[in-house]
Amino acid sequence: MRAVIVGSGSEIPPTVVTNRMLSRVMDTSDEWIRERSGVETRYYVEPGTTTSDLGVAAARRALVAARVEPSAVDLVVFATMTPDHYFPGAGPLLQAKLGLGNVPCFDIRQQCVGFLYGLQLVDAHVRAGLARTVLLVGAEVHSGFMPYTAANWDYLYGRTDVPPTPAEHEWNSRFRHLTVLFGDAGAAVVMRAEEDGSRGVIDQVLGTDGAEYDKLYVPGTGFKHRPYTDPEQFARGDHIPVMDGRYVFKLATTRMVEVAQQVLERNRVTIDDVSLVLMHQANRRINEHCQKVLGIPDAKVIHNIQKYGNTTAATIPLLWDEAAREGRLRQGDLVLLVAFGAGMSWGATLVRA
Ligand code: COA
Repeated sequence: MRAVIVGSGSEIPPTVVTNRMLSRVMDTSDEWIRERSGVETRYYVEPGTTTSDLGVAAARRALVAARVEPSAVDLVVFATMTPDHYFPGAGPLLQAKLGLGNVPCFDIRQQCVGFLYGLQLVDAHVRAGLARTVLLVGAEVHSGFMPYTAANWDYLYGRTDVPPTPAEHEWNSRFRHLTVLFGDAGAAVVMRAEEDGSRGVIDQVLGTDGAEYDKLYVPGTGFKHRPYTDPEQFARGDHIPVMDGRYVFKLATTRMVEVAQQVLERNRVTIDDVSLVLMHQANRRINEHCQKVLGIPDAKVIHNIQKYGNTTAATIPLLWDEAAREGRLRQGDLVLLVAFGAGMSWGATLVRA
């Protein structure tokens, strides 16, 4: 019994934000962002639209694509690091909004590797006979992390002509290495237990090194603090992620190559046997490095970071969905998925489409 991806869907928020728009509220430039990361635009939700909303819209499309009725879903796995509420997670909210049965809903938080950890969870349930039709969702609303005042947001969008004060501009610029990279999006797949055994999740290698957690994490708004959030944390900016960009870059390139090689070797396949490689979209330069070391031809790699930025748990299902809609995924294709992210965690998965 294998867990086969039988449909996918995605949801991109309506508002496109260019690098030039960001340079209205902080010290950055289109040239810097493009050169260092490959990001050209990203999309943000309007206030009030949540991660579960994006997940629900993506899941609806995935169910239609898979020709699966919501009532058939017997397990939900929702990967996000930006849930609507501290608790409960986004899974139960999605279940209610979609009108699913009272099926188990897992919420997982492996950040940029969330989708791959989710695949392992789904695969294990399917192999154990605990689930047959599963919704696996990755969605994020990162715009809540952005440090701008309401007036700064309006200026960014060109809705007012009141620029940030010098103090606001300096505050916004403090987080510029991080904020320019991220965008909001949701993506989902429907997975079904199939007995034939040739399609579906073939194998995975996942890893975590918690000793490196502080290279990319949110220092505040956690239960390490009493109370878990307070105005002092907010004033320090501790609700916004801290990232050692250079260190994360180095770790990502090392781990992504290693883990991809491990899963290929363990299954006695090479890049020649793989039709498509979908890598987490954190930085185009990270992926170009991995592509070069692994010897992957351009034709087998899809990037979409230029359009959406880093959408964390949504990047890989979003790539999958775009590839499926563009006819780049044929049934039987062997696909390699690779990701690295906060935790620090990493993973590589072989899936037959
Ligand atoms: N606009 C303009 N200048 C910026 C900037 C921005 N948005 N962000 C940083 N800078 C400046 C820095 O202040 C620094 O200036 P200095 O030389 O005067 O000190 C300079 O640019 C170089 O900064 P550095 O951090 O060394 O740049 P980099 O080439 O490492 O690129 C990242 C920064 C964040 C794009 C890159 O390190 C990265 O992508 N790392 C991995 C991040 C990641 O993958 N995160 C998610 C994991 S899932």
